[in-house]
Amino acid sequence: MIERNVIDRIFETTRIVDVVEDFVSLKRRGANFVGCCPFHNERTPSFMVSPAKNIYKCFGCGKAGNAVNFVMEHEQLGYPDALRYLAKKYGIEIVEKEQTPEERLLNDRRESLMVVSAYAARMFQENLHENREGQAIGLSYFKERGFRDDTIKKFELGYCLETRDAFSKKAVKDGYKEEYLVETGLSIKGENGVFDRFAGRVMFPIHSLAGKVIGFGGRVLKVDKSKNVGKYVNSPESEIYHKSKVLYGVYQAKNSIVRNRKCYLVEGYTDVISMHQAGIENVVASSGTALTGEQIQLIKRFTENVTVMYDGDAAGIHASLRGINMFLQEGINVKALLLPDGDDPDSFSRKHSATELEEYFAQHETDFIRFKAQLLLDDTKGDPIKRAEMINDVMESLSLIPDPIKRAVYLKEAAEMFEMEERMLTATADKMQQKRAADGQRRRTASQPTPEMQSGAEGVPPPASEQPLIDAEQQKAQEMARAEREIIRLLVNYGNEKLFDRNEETGEEELSVAAYLINEIRADEIELQHPETKAIFEEYEQIWQSEGRMNENHFIRHSNPAISQLTAELLTSKYELSVIYQKKGMEIKNEEEKLKDVVPMNLMAFKQKTVMRLLKNLSGEMQEALLKGDTAQYETLFTQFTALTEVKKQLAKTLGKRTL
Ligand code: CTP
Ligand code: MN
Repeated sequence: MIERNVIDRIFETTRIVDVVEDFVSLKRRGANFVGCCPFHNERTPSFMVSPAKNIYKCFGCGKAGNAVNFVMEHEQLGYPDALRYLAKKYGIEIVEKEQTPEERLLNDRRESLMVVSAYAARMFQENLHENREGQAIGLSYFKERGFRDDTIKKFELGYCLETRDAFSKKAVKDGYKEEYLVETGLSIKGENGVFDRFAGRVMFPIHSLAGKVIGFGGRVLKVDKSKNVGKYVNSPESEIYHKSKVLYGVYQAKNSIVRNRKCYLVEGYTDVISMHQAGIENVVASSGTALTGEQIQLIKRFTENVTVMYDGDAAGIHASLRGINMFLQEGINVKALLLPDGDDPDSFSRKHSATELEEYFAQHETDFIRFKAQLLLDDTKGDPIKRAEMINDVMESLSLIPDPIKRAVYLKEAAEMFEMEERMLTATADKMQQKRAADGQRRRTASQPTPEMQSGAEGVPPPASEQPLIDAEQQKAQEMARAEREIIRLLVNYGNEKLFDRNEETGEEELSVAAYLINEIRADEIELQHPETKAIFEEYEQIWQSEGRMNENHFIRHSNPAISQLTAELLTSKYELSVIYQKKGMEIKNEEEKLKDVVPMNLMAFKQKTVMRLLKNLSGEMQEALLKGDTAQYETLFTQFTALTEVKKQLAKTLGKRTL
């Protein structure tokens, strides 16, 4: 926990330009600075930094925020760690909350394990580069594989000497506790003292997201099939190394994943390393284990687009198929990429340049459904039963996609591929989903019959048929979101500004933009629909009630990063959202001067969208009442419906449009 006044000091001291310049080269342009956006690939700079507002905004990809948001996004840190990063940069001392003795003990222990691991990684590297045995055996092995010096350094590759306890002995002599050597698995306790787990192997350190060494993979130099020695030996589970949560290479890949908005998933250490060396850096490996949900969550922190890349042999294909459903279920857009038979990502990327690789990848990656269908189609030629099973298999995958829009797109594709009725396939997918939801429900209810769990299968999306899939619906939802956002944009940008000379209701002199918007929205009892805009509105209202004005830094320095980011976007998107104005063809020179028109117009537009939303809900409820035969209920609803329709007409008239 960082104290509030320290956080304030960090914000006051931080200069956005200093912070960004550590990662992006900036050029001055007028009052601002511009550079190439670090969050997406671009050649012409559209990334703007405003020293005056202390914020950044990319006009290409839309990312925006304050210095803390920048550090969070760029370094992939959480909010407190981003604050610590800035405090360190500016030499601000952070007073942390005291730890309990148990917490301290646990942290000290984890810290000790990390220290031992870092030491081991250093020793293994030293062996590789400076020891004669290491050079002759380890380094020459890596060189033979085609790894360059910079690659070997980048991945901190190393070598563990052949003498069975050389490392353990040295470590103990250097003052490292045997207990920690054993706990990290670097040493194994035998009858005659400790010996080295990795003796005679080349070493691949495994890094945490923050770049600390937490484990190792060690490879034997010659694979001897007659002896039953695993090609790789890996660190055992420990307090710092949980293999189900780790992806090899994620530390080296994270920035590139964000920039390219995509992550390649491969199988092994050497695949990751060779692809890096070829210039493709957005790649991680599951390291031979079956992919876990936690690993998928880790990728999801950086991107929702994953391309699974495996060998073109049968085992590789099988492995790709296994991962696909897990990705789909997590809402990831998953593609598959098969390499030519006989190649794995390692061998393939050693044969080609970065441009050739990119070209091949772009041409050969297929979305999961095409991939699955093609594989299965080949297997099932001419066998109608097998073909039906195959279609079912694809449908099962499809029904796992949580987003109804995406699912609909894939259903369409499947219908074309299998030459079947789209409606039929949709119904099948819906049924599969309902069945799963029901099964899940039953399981949950049986094991823990709490009321909140019975109320709905949480996390299981409703069947596709209940969700509007048509584009028009989507578009309406977007317009609604825009109108709401526009209100909050006006509030955040101009809340303190004077709107009218007199407040008609209270008779007071002057009515501010904030007072006007808050009063109007409250008077009509309108609920905002989107979590962030709603949060800003409610907090704004509360502060406004008690203080009568708003500190201009309040939201941009907000402790909720989602809010500070949205605020930065709103502060930099002055004119682009004034839809109403643009539609009416008026030129916007200075929005401030036109608040008197802009604010009420946009409020009306928002109200109109709200009324439309309510009408839609009402018609649904009316239909339900009719089905139930509840005529009294139906009539009440109908009265509301008529009244609202009238409001809608009035609004449309004032806004100068015909009834929509
Ligand atoms: N693996 C493992 N234990 C083994 C074999 C494999 O942990 N006995 C893991 C390793 O993380 C390895 C990955 O599975 O990187 C893929 O295995 P494989 O393709 O056999 O290894 P490569 O990485 O291709 O290694 P190499 O090219 O050196 O044979
Ligand atoms: Mn290999």
